[in-house]
Amino acid sequence: MEYPLHVKHNRIKQWVNEIAGLTKPDTIHWCDGSQKENDELCEVMVQSGTFTRLNPQKRPNSYLALSDPSDVARVEERTFICSKNRNDAGPTNNWVNPLEMKKTLNTLFDGCMKGRTMYVVPFSMGPLGSKISHVGIEVTDSPYVVVNMRIMTRMGKPVYDILGDDGEFVPCVHSVGLPLSKGQKDVTWPCNKDHKYIVHFPEERSIWSFGSGYGGNALLGKKCFALRIASVMARDEGWLAEHMLILGVESPKGEKTYVTAAFPSACGKTNFAMLIPPKALNGWKVTTVGDDIAWIKPGSDGRLYAINPEAGYFGVAPGTSEVTNPNAMGTMKKNSIFTNVALTPDGDVWWEGMTKTPPPHLIDWQGKEWTPDCGRKAAHPNARFTAPAYQCPSIDNNWENPEGVPISAFIFGGRRTNTIPLVAEAFNWNFGVYMAATMGSETTAAAVGATGEVRRDPMAMLPFCGYHMADYFNHWLNIGRQIKNPPRIFSVNWFRKDLEGNFLWPGFGENMRMLKWIVERVHGNASAGESPLGWMPRYDDIDWTGSQDMSSKQFYDLMSIDRELWKEEILLHEGLFIKLFDRLPKEFGLMRDMLLSQLWRSPER
Ligand code: GTP
Ligand code: SPV
Ligand code: MN
Repeated sequence: MEYPLHVKHNRIKQWVNEIAGLTKPDTIHWCDGSQKENDELCEVMVQSGTFTRLNPQKRPNSYLALSDPSDVARVEERTFICSKNRNDAGPTNNWVNPLEMKKTLNTLFDGCMKGRTMYVVPFSMGPLGSKISHVGIEVTDSPYVVVNMRIMTRMGKPVYDILGDDGEFVPCVHSVGLPLSKGQKDVTWPCNKDHKYIVHFPEERSIWSFGSGYGGNALLGKKCFALRIASVMARDEGWLAEHMLILGVESPKGEKTYVTAAFPSACGKTNFAMLIPPKALNGWKVTTVGDDIAWIKPGSDGRLYAINPEAGYFGVAPGTSEVTNPNAMGTMKKNSIFTNVALTPDGDVWWEGMTKTPPPHLIDWQGKEWTPDCGRKAAHPNARFTAPAYQCPSIDNNWENPEGVPISAFIFGGRRTNTIPLVAEAFNWNFGVYMAATMGSETTAAAVGATGEVRRDPMAMLPFCGYHMADYFNHWLNIGRQIKNPPRIFSVNWFRKDLEGNFLWPGFGENMRMLKWIVERVHGNASAGESPLGWMPRYDDIDWTGSQDMSSKQFYDLMSIDRELWKEEILLHEGLFIKLFDRLPKEFGLMRDMLLSQLWRSPER
């Protein structure tokens, strides 16, 4: 095999050689990450029908991809943590003995790239060369993956300079799992309909993904590396790899406060990270550091510092508009990739919620003619845009600061129709960890098979923790023991509904009112009342300037703690605890009892 001159790393050469020997691609392409390479790959995909070039006047240098209708989201049932010991993966992860899994993978990957090009994609999670960054090499037979990785990570030749001839890297192997025989015509979205495997070997820190070309299944730097593998690294090394956005809040006095927020998939991280405060709260400003993943490390001053390991956003398109998230709309104006949205007659994109009135005629995400009365959705509910972070109008000055930004608060929130109040502050670190660990949320279209039922999603990490969930809780408690100034912990819920199913809270920019209270609490400038769940703002503790429609009655409806619902809720906590019993922190049982006693002590508001 021939290797590019700039690759001086023998283990990488050997490994690529080995994978090529197994997967048997027609050719190997070592990606350099250049614009030229990107343009050529996009052109190849336009020719093959994978990409539609969007109207350059409306959406310069941007493309639309429509996936196979069976390959539209993460496949949690097919995601595996193959630690040597079953119990190290824990009961919330699928586990297979690593030796057995390797046999399976060797069979699946044998010849799986026949008729295709194998791309070697070097990438850095985190700024190039920063000491908190980590490098991966993804080999893939999907050019769609290559051009997405170029937006989502720091991808290209400079990664080899950082690695030198012996640097550490996480090997990531990806195949769409559809080899082509001689002369066989390719499909526009190759994938394997029968076999999908998203596999992690946490001890050897490697990733193997087969059969899917979509998002978190295929862009291996994201969920597989920056969360599942990184969470194991973080446990071993004393830091946190979290499913969290990072944002900065600037007060009218110019005081900057950084917070992170963990919401499950498709529950509002991108929106919150790019929030634009209501006009009446003038002087307050939100800036974006990251929208999905945070790597958080203790600093020498006893605070926690967070970096965004990603370089772009892979955001939910439906529901995103100039009204709900103008910053996201600004970010994807150019140099963006759209997957599974609808195509307008003038070569632009559309999805549900982008405009009040849908266009009269579209090509939908399945490539079919679409009209507003046809009874189908124009965009898939998990349709996504891939866009570079540097194009975000609200990007924070420090978003690439290798030291990270100091975190003052952790916010946790799920999608809950009832039970969980709009906002509450945990009494202390341990109670906050308990609250986050027992968090529930309705499942969303981000994962295949979602039905919208409430499931426990601890710290929004259920699908992303690379080890035993109870060990992860212990790790969180340990961080609290080690940090001199741990961030305050808050819980929020933007999604409460009335009996008719209408949202009780307007959400989006209005969330600034709760964020302002949170930031003021951190600085000791806002008061609150005690509740069974922690400190909660009273109506007058919230800045309602310019808000016409939130009466104190409506507010207390959003804040109410229904004792009957909470009895059921605590039984659901119990369900999780029983599942994790063998390694559950001993504190959790005590905190559950404290919570119960507080619920019974105070009269219902
Ligand atoms: P992943 O990328 O899957 O991890 O998700 P995310 O948490 O970044 O989700 P995103 O911000 O893209 O939100 C997805 C959906 O939540 C969209 O349909 C939004 O319209 C909706 N959403 C976001 N914020 C709010 C809010 O404050 N209120 C309500 N009601 N809906 C919201
Ligand atoms: C999520 O599902 O939480 C995502 C999208 O951020 S994906 O990258 O597809 O996992
Ligand atoms: Mn996510």
